[in-house]
Amino acid sequence: MEALQDKIMKEGTVLSDRVLKVDSFLNHQVDPELMQKIGKEFASRFQEANITKILTIESSGIAPAVMAGLYLGVPVVFARKRRSLTLTNHLYTSQVRSFTKNETNDISISKDFISSEDMLLIIDDFLAEGQALLGLLNIAEQAGAEVAGAGIVIEKGFQQGGRIIREQGVRVESLARISSLENGTVQFTEEVLN
Ligand code: G4P
Ligand code: NA
Ligand code: NA
Repeated sequence: MEALQDKIMKEGTVLSDRVLKVDSFLNHQVDPELMQKIGKEFASRFQEANITKILTIESSGIAPAVMAGLYLGVPVVFARKRRSLTLTNHLYTSQVRSFTKNETNDISISKDFISSEDMLLIIDDFLAEGQALLGLLNIAEQAGAEVAGAGIVIEKGFQQGGRIIREQGVRVESLARISSLENGTVQFTEEVLN
């Protein structure tokens, strides 16, 4: 997606060979107009998939997910990273290991908001090692919901997540796929690397 690649080139900062900082439009400040285009693009890619609900994870997945939900005309539910104080026995919960932060967190979703009737589109801001996506897929499975695919804003193709998720037979659509962050430079690719 050209507008997204342009934005990454203009405002993204390469922090290391593995980490891209995009705080000015995705992870801290949000660019609503760009987010709207992102939502429209996800919606067009999954238009024929009979999506009933979008599933994402707080916090940075919410903005692109809401825009996709707006265009698809479906609700958006986000997994929480902390256990809510109420209804703890009324939650689907999964463990997510973060390689970057070297910690494991529970993510959870109320049983009220996904069911075996749902056809889900999972949205997230980054795909790196794929652990967040695996957690969301696990929650969908617990609910007996179907997953039409995953829409990712930025996929880091040099990490393992894309391969792991696609090997499970899940359709993954990334709007920007980065093949390398070496030498402080962002390299994009159209290919699915893995
Ligand atoms: P994984 O889920 O793919 O395995 O990712 P990992 O554990 O490596 O990443 C943990 C957090 O770091 C996630 O955000 C993920 O979106 C983010 N992340 C991964 N790689 C990058 C990167 O290159 N740049 C940026 N900016 N973020 C990256 P989170 O902790 O869930 O935070 P948030 O959703 O509240 O923003
Ligand atoms: Na993030
Ligand atoms: Na995220």
